[in-house]
Amino acid sequence: MSTEEEILARMKPGCICKGIKLHRIVQAIEDGAASFEEVAKMTGIGGGSCDSKRCGQKVATLLQNKKEE
Ligand code: FES
Repeated sequence: MSTEEEILARMKPGCICKGIKLHRIVQAIEDGAASFEEVAKMTGIGGGSCDSKRCGQKVATLLQNKKEE
């Protein structure tokens, strides 16, 4: 992740309902999380008002991007 991407990820929401920033999700994936459940366990996302639909889509996109690297 470039410096600019990292700065943006620190500002963007990852899980709005729990106030968890996107960079924590990105970091969890970089640390080896390979599924939504693993990311949720490492970051605390999920289980909020979105019922994992909003944050689940973000995680799915990031995991797919990681696979394509
Ligand atoms: S955005 Fe918070 S649980 Fe999905």
